[in-house]
Amino acid sequence: MTARNLKPDIFAIGAIDWHRTTFDALVPLPHGTSYNSYLVMGSEKTALIDTVEPDKWDELLQNIKETPVKTIDYLISLHSEQDHSGCIPKILELHPEAQILTSPKGKEQLQLLLHLPDDKLRVMADGETLSLGNKTLTFMHAPWVHWPDNMFCHVAEDKVLFTNDFLGAHLATDKLIVTDKDEVYSEAKRYFAEIMMPYRAQAARHLERVKTLDLDLIAPSHGPVFTKPFWILNAYQEWTADQTKNELVIAYVSMHESTRLMANYFATKLTAAGITVHTYDLAKVDVGELAIALVDATTLLIGASAVVQTAHPVAVYATALINVLRPKLSHYGIFGSFGWAAKIPEQLTGLLPSLAKAEQLPPLMVKGLPKEEDYGEMDGLVEIIVKKHGEKRLMV
Ligand code: FEO
Repeated sequence: MTARNLKPDIFAIGAIDWHRTTFDALVPLPHGTSYNSYLVMGSEKTALIDTVEPDKWDELLQNIKETPVKTIDYLISLHSEQDHSGCIPKILELHPEAQILTSPKGKEQLQLLLHLPDDKLRVMADGETLSLGNKTLTFMHAPWVHWPDNMFCHVAEDKVLFTNDFLGAHLATDKLIVTDKDEVYSEAKRYFAEIMMPYRAQAARHLERVKTLDLDLIAPSHGPVFTKPFWILNAYQEWTADQTKNELVIAYVSMHESTRLMANYFATKLTAAGITVHTYDLAKVDVGELAIALVDATTLLIGASAVVQTAHPVAVYATALINVLRPKLSHYGIFGSFGWAAKIPEQLTGLLPSLAKAEQLPPLMVKGLPKEEDYGEMDGLVEIIVKKHGEKRLMV
């Protein structure tokens, strides 16, 4: 990719990672990602906003060479995770004149992760401004979306907000600007679910502040730039809201069909009762799809077979992941099948401390293949869930 003009004297110079398949050794990337870096050239000073993953250094360097920039006065680190900070040492080698501007926590993190010298780092206060001549930067602290160091940078004259991870999307595309809203919407929602959902309250708070700004462009650090910021802001408004939808997620793993039969029975009955059901076989699903469904769901059912008297390890992994994602569920329940002995509900519930505010439904464990009386119990659980969904005021 080449350097591209975003606004007069503002260039997008980041790198696209077409083939990356996972992030943090955890999050699947079905459509790759990008590491967005930006150059803001004022009439007197130039600022580089964020860098790229270290293995994309050559691309960043080439893009910088394509711009008119000769001197980098400020290197702004909005977030110290290495996909954005990883090339700071190389920039400093080429541009020893550059001063690194960061948040208070960003300074700590950059020293911890990159061993940067203290005298190179300047902490910017929340609301502090910096003149580049004809462009003015304003720094906005935005902690916990998703690290304690997150910060935004606003260029008032150009009505541009650089938000780093916030409002981003893991999407490799040669389009600089969002042109296919539907394509970006699903990736932005996946990104929110995987990265921002655990920090929903903080995201909602920062969103309110962003909405007070007069903006032409929102430029995140992953995925394309938004020229119509309202739709991504509206989407975040919905995703961060306390309300849920009339939706239920069934996430299960089945060894010998018993648990699958139960999952399918629940799905059929609950769908017939008017609830939108998303069912995931954990042995096959991209967990990002599960995370997306959890953004809106009111209820979660986790199903597991027993393996050596414990819950199937695939269900254990998924449950631990759900605990990390902290979805805004109102209810959750555990079901499954065992052969001789297993404490699956106790085991899986113990992995879900972040759902402490959600109501736990009665667990439903079946010995072997479900029998007629087991289906009767399943009907009972369906009845409870339908009643609870009916009692809640749900988003449409
Ligand atoms: Fe894109 Fe939190 O790094």
